[in-house]
Amino acid sequence: MRYVVFNQKGGVGKSTIACNLAAIGASRGLRTLVVDLDTQANATRYLLGAAADAPRAGSADFFEQTLKYSLKPQDVAEFVSPTPWEDLSLMASDPRLDELHSKLESRHKILKLRDALESLAGAFDRVWIDTPPALNFYTRSALIAADRCLIPFDCDEFSRRALYGLMESVQEIRADHNAALEIGGIVVNQFQPRANLPQRVVQELIDEGLPVLEPYLGASVRIRESHELATPMIHLDPAHRIAQAFVELHDAIEARAGARRRK
Ligand SMILES: Nc1ncnc2c1ncn2[C@@H]1O[C@H](COP(=O)(O)OP(=O)(O)OP(=O)(O)O)[C@@H](O)[C@H]1O
Ligand SMILES: [Mg+2]
Repeated sequence: MRYVVFNQKGGVGKSTIACNLAAIGASRGLRTLVVDLDTQANATRYLLGAAADAPRAGSADFFEQTLKYSLKPQDVAEFVSPTPWEDLSLMASDPRLDELHSKLESRHKILKLRDALESLAGAFDRVWIDTPPALNFYTRSALIAADRCLIPFDCDEFSRRALYGLMESVQEIRADHNAALEIGGIVVNQFQPRANLPQRVVQELIDEGLPVLEPYLGASVRIRESHELATPMIHLDPAHRIAQAFVELHDAIEARAGARRRK
């Protein structure tokens, strides 16, 4: 099962959600890979902390290799690093992703990530792809490589309107390149239960029949601390309400995916 976490809007919680859900699966013994396709490297920093600064092969090296034809390409596994947590691995980001972007696009390397992740299918039970806040080559590669798309939503009225365009982009990729891609659901983040606007905006999504997942994730300074300490919530403070919400969300997403597979 390969998940992509996608929203063109910045700062809605993509990296936070991808890393925390991945860490929960890994803590249960699912062999899990996080793929960081964002040059900001937030997921890489979140999972590796200061060690993220050490040079390592990662997603930029993988994509660079696709530009140089070789009879003996490096195995995709060589672009994957361990993290401090058992069963959680990372294909790290690198600033070179920016330089490579236009070359990869002009040379039609859009299916390479899918092929690479397929070659790793025996090594990992779950893959979580963190994407940049843009609909660019990397995001499209991820949507083509994934089975399921999760869309973080920050309860903002503008974001609600942007969701329709975003879902159309996903549907277009599904129609053109990846019939297996399903919208796994909308993840409500930084929800304030006592404010009117977020409640109304989320209710509108539900009324319009959009797949809003539960539980909603509240806002907590603990999340920022978790980034600073480079420790996902399940390891930092498993009893915290946000950690518990992530666990319930993880199980809801997995249950939905399982139900679809059985159909
Ligand atoms: N539920 C939450 N409570 C409090 N802070 C949060 C929560 N979710 C995310 N944040 C904070 O909001 C910021 C943005 O989160 P994150 O980096 O996960 O978003 P993103 O969508 O990946 O951003 P970008 O588009 O820049 O990649 C981070 O500083 C993170 O700590
Ligand atoms: Mg991010």
